[in-house]
Amino acid sequence: MNTVYFDSDANEAERRSGLYAGQLYVYSPTESGLELCKLAQDMCSEAFHPHFPPDAQHHLDVDQYVEILKTLKPKFIHHPECKRLIPKLLEELGCELEHTYFDVPRLRTACSGDYLSSGLAYAFKPHRDTWYSTPMAQLNWWLPVYPITSENSMAFHPNYWNKPVQNSSSLFNYQDWNVGGRKSAEKQVGKDTRVQSAALEPMKLEPQTRLVTKPGGVIAFSAAQMHSTVPNTSELTRFSIDFRTVDSRDTQTNDGAVNVDSECGGTTMMDYLRGSDLEHFPDSEIKRHEMLASVAQYPTPQHLVEAELADSEA
Ligand SMILES: [Fe+2]
Repeated sequence: MNTVYFDSDANEAERRSGLYAGQLYVYSPTESGLELCKLAQDMCSEAFHPHFPPDAQHHLDVDQYVEILKTLKPKFIHHPECKRLIPKLLEELGCELEHTYFDVPRLRTACSGDYLSSGLAYAFKPHRDTWYSTPMAQLNWWLPVYPITSENSMAFHPNYWNKPVQNSSSLFNYQDWNVGGRKSAEKQVGKDTRVQSAALEPMKLEPQTRLVTKPGGVIAFSAAQMHSTVPNTSELTRFSIDFRTVDSRDTQTNDGAVNVDSECGGTTMMDYLRGSDLEHFPDSEIKRHEMLASVAQYPTPQHLVEAELADSEA
């Protein structure tokens, strides 16, 4: 069973447990969430001037559009304001910054119809982020930049929370992909040929849950959630921001969601910055996670091992 909590009063530890158990948490706009969206809106307005960004696809040919995204997306990702606003936002949502590590935010676009659904606007088919070398403790935070509707949102597929899916994550290694994959994204107009982790069996997309929040509002979910970009049948491009976090208390103990089917190599641990001072994880901790991944099996989270031991002792 999946539960969606709206503006939950749960403390951070309870929320992490809930997220690792498959629950979803939705928050109303906060001051820093709104500021982060405003930053993205201003950058989009400038890039697509004189068009309203969600409508710009109807006024530009696809090559021009890709050219604009090629500059806009990295500019947002590396904007110094993001490194100030994300820790503030996390603090507003109750995170303890000395334990919470975050990565740079992505600005994503989901165009209406089949205008552009590859490369820089890759339409994510159902997937778990854990198929992309993340620790099982990774949490995702997602914000719409402009108002969205169900028709241009994202979907969760709760039936797959506990259910393994045949997938190609064993072919994915984050370190290799970083060298060859992301750099070629801007060249991929039309058909996307980069190696992405994907399901290798037909997926049942129903039932699905779509959450519609206001700009500056946040949806938090475990990286192990099966989710997808919905086919955009609205007339408007969806712009969204997402970033991920891990809590060092959980990465240290290999805690997090249960791994039902991820087998990728490599780790994303070098990407996260500590909320309190923007420090990276120590090299030894990054290497340890790389080693765990190299055997293609994340260990069972410690609390489950303990629960099992307690069971067998009883
Ligand atoms: Fe994702």
